[in-house]
Amino acid sequence: KKKIRILDIMEMKKNSQRISSITCYDATFARIIESTNIDLVLVGDSLGNVIQGKNTTIKVSVNDIAYHVSCVSSTLKTPLLVGDMPFISAGLSRSETTHNAGILIQAGAEAVKIEGASPEICDHINFLIRHGIPVMGHIGLMPQSVNALSGFRIQGKNDEDKEKLMNEAKELQKAGCFAVVLELVTPKTAQFISEALAIPTIGIGSGNFCDGNILVLQDMLGMNKQFKPKFLKHFLDLEESIKNAVNNYCGDVKSAKSESI
Ligand code: KIV
Ligand code: NA
Repeated sequence: KKKIRILDIMEMKKNSQRISSITCYDATFARIIESTNIDLVLVGDSLGNVIQGKNTTIKVSVNDIAYHVSCVSSTLKTPLLVGDMPFISAGLSRSETTHNAGILIQAGAEAVKIEGASPEICDHINFLIRHGIPVMGHIGLMPQSVNALSGFRIQGKNDEDKEKLMNEAKELQKAGCFAVVLELVTPKTAQFISEALAIPTIGIGSGNFCDGNILVLQDMLGMNKQFKPKFLKHFLDLEESIKNAVNNYCGDVKSAKSESI
């Protein structure tokens, strides 16, 4: 299989090929994903929810992400591997942003993702790119800003928000991002932005007109069924399968039936 690089991700948009992306946090899942058609893998700070059991991503540290990047990078070879910059790890100063991004790259990430598009963030993104670290942007619902955004709400609803998101997307493109995540943006706004940008948009909960899509692995596998936002399709009922398997095992143990235990 041909290794997917930044240039391939950008070319896919030009060739009207959509970009399939997923999150991953460990080597076992990474080995399975390696055998699929996924183009891009993100070690997201959603590991705060999925791995650490918190209800926001705010407590996730750079070292948490780095640890999971190193787990994933040991078995993932083909898809582009992106590490998420967690809460406050980007935007304070160029040197702090670069130091933190460097930790993720040294752990095995091939690019980093940064939430936001403030002038400081855009400056730091450009600084990283000039130092050889590719960056994926992330606007719309930014879970790290849940307090400032007053909750997990859909973004880009009115014309003013739509224009604001469009400007942010253009600033991120200008700064040198190779792609931008649009999270929980109305489908119309996401389409409007996707058509205006030369770089690909990767949607999550943002309709079908982005240049690609990303979902959280455990969520799309139906391992986290109490979390069911409208956009989220369960492609498997893994929670049920695991429950049944573990209960079958319990049954075998209790009755001393199985020879394999
Ligand atoms: O942390 C994450 O998983 C993400 C994606 C959902 C875009 O940021
Ligand atoms: Na994230």
